[in-house]
Amino acid sequence: MIKTHNLSKTFFSGFLRKKIKALDGLNLEVKSNEIFGYLGPNGSGKTTSIKLFVGLLKPSAGRVKIFNQDINSQNVLSQIGYMPEASNFYDYLTAWELLDYYGQLCHLKKSIRGRRVEELLSLVELERFKTMQLRGFSKGMLQRLGIAQALINDPKLVILDEPMAGLDPGGRKKVRDIIIDLKRKGKTIFFSTHVLWDVELICDRVGILIDGRLKNVGRLDEMLQREDGFTEIIFKSLTSEGMAEIRKNFSQIVEEGNQVLVYARDEQQVEFALSLVNQKKAKIFSLAPQRKTLEDIFIKELEKN
Ligand SMILES: Nc1ncnc2c1ncn2[C@@H]1O[C@H](COP(=O)(O)OP(=O)(O)OP(=O)(O)O)[C@@H](O)[C@H]1O
Ligand SMILES: [Mg+2]
Repeated sequence: MIKTHNLSKTFFSGFLRKKIKALDGLNLEVKSNEIFGYLGPNGSGKTTSIKLFVGLLKPSAGRVKIFNQDINSQNVLSQIGYMPEASNFYDYLTAWELLDYYGQLCHLKKSIRGRRVEELLSLVELERFKTMQLRGFSKGMLQRLGIAQALINDPKLVILDEPMAGLDPGGRKKVRDIIIDLKRKGKTIFFSTHVLWDVELICDRVGILIDGRLKNVGRLDEMLQREDGFTEIIFKSLTSEGMAEIRKNFSQIVEEGNQVLVYARDEQQVEFALSLVNQKKAKIFSLAPQRKTLEDIFIKELEKN
């Protein structure tokens, strides 16, 4: 759906024409019907990438193809829905008027437009407010309207720049639900965010962008698996023989009262702990695999810089 090859953008900023490498050799492929989360801290180049995807910026080097075609062909643009980072709508319009206006821009016939606008208002749960002027809208409502606007042309590919920005947990959930619903309808969704949790909950694949470079990309479960986790085991009712074996087999041991906590670094160590139970040298009070989170991966990538 989106394919980039060494896509790069350098800005020259200020009087001294200081060079800023906003995007540095991006190689990325977004597949059909997936939800792709583009994760990165402020200033990492997310918006720059997205503007390159939709043709608002020209690359300094490299290229981007959408549906295997150049982005400047009208055929491509008409099948992309795009929500910019900060939509500044004319706030004397009502939600209905705004969507109808975008429908006209996309050359939708009046008869189709009316139905489409109603459908979208219902999808983003704004039908109750359709005759209210946008200046009375909350941030969450405007954000949802922005998504509706991006969908007016019934695009195959939906690109959303920070769709959850500034929303409370309820608002974020609504946006997540809309995105999941779009996937169910066969769309491909690419969105940027720095909210890890939203990515963990809904994305098929994730790309981590730091300082204009893609540091990590893949399926979230595989990314998490690649990270070495550990299992926290707490023993109780240990025999002295059991305790001696634990001292031999684990490096990190915390003793508290009649309980002993160890960290099993691999499968064998977990097996060993269970064998002590089988041999009646100990009982297990708790055994908890510690799953790495996307946050751990993200922080690790940041620290590598
Ligand atoms: N038009 C521009 N002129 C000069 N520098 C720019 C321009 N646009 C972006 N930059 C710089 O490029 C870098 C990447 O910016 P970009 O807006 O793509 O980041 P971002 O990941 O979207 O950040 P945020 O999370 O804050 O939205 C930043 O250092 C920014 O200052
Ligand atoms: Mg941005």
